[in-house]
Amino acid sequence: MSGAEPENTVVASASSSAQLVDELITAFAEFSEPDSGPGVTRPGYSVLERKAHDHFTERMTQLGLTVHADAAGNSIAELPGNEPGLPAIGTGSHLDSVPQGGHYDGIAGVVAAMEVARLIVENKTLHRHPLRFVVFAAEEGARFGQACTGSRIIAGLTAADDLNDLVDGRGVTVASAMQEIGIDPLRVGDAKWRSKDWCAFIELHIEQGSVLMDVQLPIGVVDLISGSTRLKITTHGRASHTGGTPMHLRADALTAAAQIVLAAEALANDDEHRGTRITVGRLDVHPASITTIPGDCEMYVDIRDVDSDRQRDAATAFIATAYQIGHDRAVEVGSEILADASPVVLPVFVRNTIVGAVAEMGLGYRVMPSGASHDAQMINHVVPTGMIFVPSQNHGVSHSPHELTLTPDIVRGVDALHASMLALDSSASHAAHD
Ligand code: HGY
Ligand code: MN
Ligand code: MN
Repeated sequence: MSGAEPENTVVASASSSAQLVDELITAFAEFSEPDSGPGVTRPGYSVLERKAHDHFTERMTQLGLTVHADAAGNSIAELPGNEPGLPAIGTGSHLDSVPQGGHYDGIAGVVAAMEVARLIVENKTLHRHPLRFVVFAAEEGARFGQACTGSRIIAGLTAADDLNDLVDGRGVTVASAMQEIGIDPLRVGDAKWRSKDWCAFIELHIEQGSVLMDVQLPIGVVDLISGSTRLKITTHGRASHTGGTPMHLRADALTAAAQIVLAAEALANDDEHRGTRITVGRLDVHPASITTIPGDCEMYVDIRDVDSDRQRDAATAFIATAYQIGHDRAVEVGSEILADASPVVLPVFVRNTIVGAVAEMGLGYRVMPSGASHDAQMINHVVPTGMIFVPSQNHGVSHSPHELTLTPDIVRGVDALHASMLALDSSASHAAHD
């Protein structure tokens, strides 16, 4: 094209900047609990998560976007569109982490959103719809059991009344954790989104698995997201002297718990439940003394599946097995459902828009399910949502300091996200009314 670009063309966007991506990934990793060991520890609804949100807000404000924190602690930056009254197109992810987590889970999607915002501003790209760049609060279920609390509140799936029931390992409820950082838990309902204000949302996330690595493809386009049922199972036996108590007179809470843990693994491997993933990620033993037979145990169980019936059936079968083991061992078993989210099939028009944009860029892609849960799963309750995966290295390890996604893969993901959002901008309003 010769001479100066005419005002109303969309300048071909420059590629995302590897240097800026690296800089942002490093900056966010700094917000981690001191002395928390390797990796990143940035709990949901903590001061550290607020600091990470503040960094996002500072950078987006510098870029010229208006940014606000909603009543649930989600941060939302906006670029107004040039056609008044159109619903918004959004992207974003989360900045909280699991204990000793990696540098990329959630953060890659926030960094990608920030880079897309920068490309749009610096390229002076014309766009019809308002564009919103979102950081969701408290996505990880690691602290309070329930995942995606900030996006669940947006979707109307979690209300103020629920926030006293969600408790962390130190007995702190979500409501009090919110108050400690200046969020009024009674007002979270104000954060709910209205479907008519939105037309599409895309979350970019690391795969947290090894499929893209195994097939050597740079982009995943997610078609469905696993559900998760989270349980707390307790065993109550009789604490007693390890020397004075003969084996046949024991009610050992830990050996009962151990048998329940192995029963979970066996159930997830039986023909009926193949595809279900059951994990006991935490087991607390009391009084945890080498010379006392454990009297009490609490275990925290995560049951995941892309098939809703099989997920719930596995949870029911597992709880029944736990009670049977307790009965056989004369140990009291208790169970509590901590959280339950259904698998979600993502809408075709957003998925196909991503596929079209990625194919046009000449990038290899694979349409695939997500074993992990995501904010996108909750946002899809109010806005048609899509997901873009970028490859995880190290056999897909995640929720670990060894989590790794290469910068060039994030840059490709940013460009795919950028192209997909612009494609939605030029087509979405029609599609949303189809
Ligand atoms: O646990 C998950 O699936 C996600 O990483 N929060
Ligand atoms: Mn995540
Ligand atoms: Mn995670």
